[in-house]
Amino acid sequence: MLLFLDTADINELKALADTGLIDGVTTNPSLVAKEGKPFRPVLKEICTLIDGPVSAEAVALDAAGMVREGKLLRAVADNVVVKLPLTPEGLKACVALSDDGIPVNVTLCFSAVQALLAAKAGAAFISPFVGRLDDGGHDGMELVREIRAIYDQYGFETKILAASLRTPAHVREAALAGADCATLPPAVFRALYKHPLTDLGLEAFMKDWKASGLSVE
Ligand code: E4P
Repeated sequence: MLLFLDTADINELKALADTGLIDGVTTNPSLVAKEGKPFRPVLKEICTLIDGPVSAEAVALDAAGMVREGKLLRAVADNVVVKLPLTPEGLKACVALSDDGIPVNVTLCFSAVQALLAAKAGAAFISPFVGRLDDGGHDGMELVREIRAIYDQYGFETKILAASLRTPAHVREAALAGADCATLPPAVFRALYKHPLTDLGLEAFMKDWKASGLSVE
């Protein structure tokens, strides 16, 4: 499963890029707005820090505007994926950009039939928002499972990008549900390394090693 970071924070990306474990980045208008810097230069910098796909969202609400913005965003770097909302206009723009060879990540997906439409529109990625469904009392991960079953049944190549993940448990469940990719905030990524038994085990190994007086070199 590919792991993406869900952030537009350059410092966080710089800090985590050298883990060698980051396969891509997703952003959204709220994350970009939080940084308070001009969008395309920030996008350029993200694309130089991370080799994999970097999703950048169009903000026009009509298909023609989305296609125009999508092309501007894609011109920033070859690894830009244009992010479009799951609306009739968004899917119209998805067909147009995909036909032009520009990869699209269809975002704000909350149902399996929406995901079916996105695949038919040629989306490279579909982003089901797991945490926001959970927030509303639904089972967000069930949506990932349903999309997996539908895509496999019909051989759709659209990648399932589990989004709105808030905990390591979400990441585990997304992997078990067969998501192709998961996008997570930096804090959730860091939490994936953690297990109390790892810390305790290491502490004991170091204590025993120190007491032995041995050396590796
Ligand atoms: C994904 O592409 C979105 O940017 C993101 O995962 C939304 O997460 P949130 O629901 O925690 O804001």
